[in-house]
Amino acid sequence: INALIGKILSGDYPIGERLEVCGWVRTRRDSRAGVSFVTVHDGSCFDVLQCVIPQTLVNYSNEVVRLTAGCSLRAAGALAASSGKGQAVELLVDTVTVIGWVDDPETYPIQPKAHSFEFLREVAHLRPRTNTFGAVTRVRNSLAQAVHRFFNSEGFCWVHTPIVTASDCEGAGEMFRVSTLDLQNLPRTAAGGVDFTQDFFGRETFLTVSGQLEVEAYCLALSRVYTFGPTFRAENSNTSRHLAEFWMIEPEIAFADLSMDADLAERLLKSVFRHVLDERQDDLAFFDDRILKGCVQRLESLVSCEFVRMDYVEAIRILEGCGAAFEFPVRYGIDLQSEHERYLAERHVGAPVVLMNYPKNIKSFYMRLNDDGTTVAAMDVLAPGVGEIIGGSQREERLDVLDARMVECGLDPADYTWYRDLRRYGTVPHAGFGLGFERLVSYVSGISNVRDVIPFPRTPGHAEF
Ligand code: 4AD
Ligand code: MG
Repeated sequence: INALIGKILSGDYPIGERLEVCGWVRTRRDSRAGVSFVTVHDGSCFDVLQCVIPQTLVNYSNEVVRLTAGCSLRAAGALAASSGKGQAVELLVDTVTVIGWVDDPETYPIQPKAHSFEFLREVAHLRPRTNTFGAVTRVRNSLAQAVHRFFNSEGFCWVHTPIVTASDCEGAGEMFRVSTLDLQNLPRTAAGGVDFTQDFFGRETFLTVSGQLEVEAYCLALSRVYTFGPTFRAENSNTSRHLAEFWMIEPEIAFADLSMDADLAERLLKSVFRHVLDERQDDLAFFDDRILKGCVQRLESLVSCEFVRMDYVEAIRILEGCGAAFEFPVRYGIDLQSEHERYLAERHVGAPVVLMNYPKNIKSFYMRLNDDGTTVAAMDVLAPGVGEIIGGSQREERLDVLDARMVECGLDPADYTWYRDLRRYGTVPHAGFGLGFERLVSYVSGISNVRDVIPFPRTPGHAEF
């Protein structure tokens, strides 16, 4: 039987069963008693399988004793209870085939020791072989599956919104252009600008910054929808929370207001935390031990705590009166910085905060204008330790108000004809949000930099892989 190590270690096979495993060597230790202990990983769980390889094998002296970290192999033998500490079972190997050698073991970047995150980013193609990145990858997968499971259980439909788009959802002008034009020889309009009618799509196009506008169209027909895919932002932020390419989960609900939106965000987060706590105990225990003490306890308490809802004005009042020395001064009207968000969630409340009703001047055109005429029905979910992980709002469903907001934001309603149609034909109150997937994984794992929770990070100046 060809078996995954995760299944073996979780007790799926009885002692004495003959098994075959395929994987990569992490360590080798030769004992004087004439056996080598080779630990093997295959990515299916956090732990390695100890393979006990006796001297009597035909290829022992010319192959087994030359095994180093990173070599790939196939080993077969009987499963046995282990008397050594550190593992319950081990494989008593009777046949081992080396599949791939490591060219130069001295310079192989992934040695069985602790490597810095900075170093591992330089070998992003090999870092999945480390304990840490194996764990991150499995936790990331578990969270993604949990997201789909949650929405499915609540009757949502997953909609695949486009990657290439002509609309700037956030209106922040941080889009990557998609073009097949020859940069050396750009077609020009009579006025001297670039003639995008000669480009592939016959117009100017970009990589999407958010699937929201398109998912709204589907929401206003299927009631409960979400999109989950890659999004792109050409913002020049070199921070531990920003990537140029990141994944976002964006639900949208019809016949709903901001309060229902906040309820949905809370249910989603609690559900995925519960799922990963149950499914990936092994990896989370490692994070708790080696990355951030108490991160498992933090997740456990989030599942049962109540998120605190607070208005923006109230947050400003708290921040102004708290006496903390912020780098960025606080006054009504500012866009909160991560230091402010973290103060509120970590120091003031000690739980996630849903901050609501921001001044309209710092928010996007599509957010619903409140009756006060100065704030919009926006919400951000601030998590202790990370800051903003969710940004959302109730959407402006009134065409006249939407048009006025677009103009105020310097946008031309004529560029949003299809979006305006959604308000012309059977409009309804609706709301949604975006959950940054890397910020979620970072929060769960305690790994503070989002570059270390995505397989191949894209940041300003970096797309080597
Ligand atoms: O607050 P944002 O910009 O909201 C939107 O894009 C809305 N259209 C979402 C919606 O209502 N459907 O982004 C949402 C979340 C943020 O809270 C953050 O978690 C994440 O996306 N995010 C980023 N994550 C990594 N790198 C970046 N550059 C990010 N920008 C936003
Ligand atoms: Mg935001």
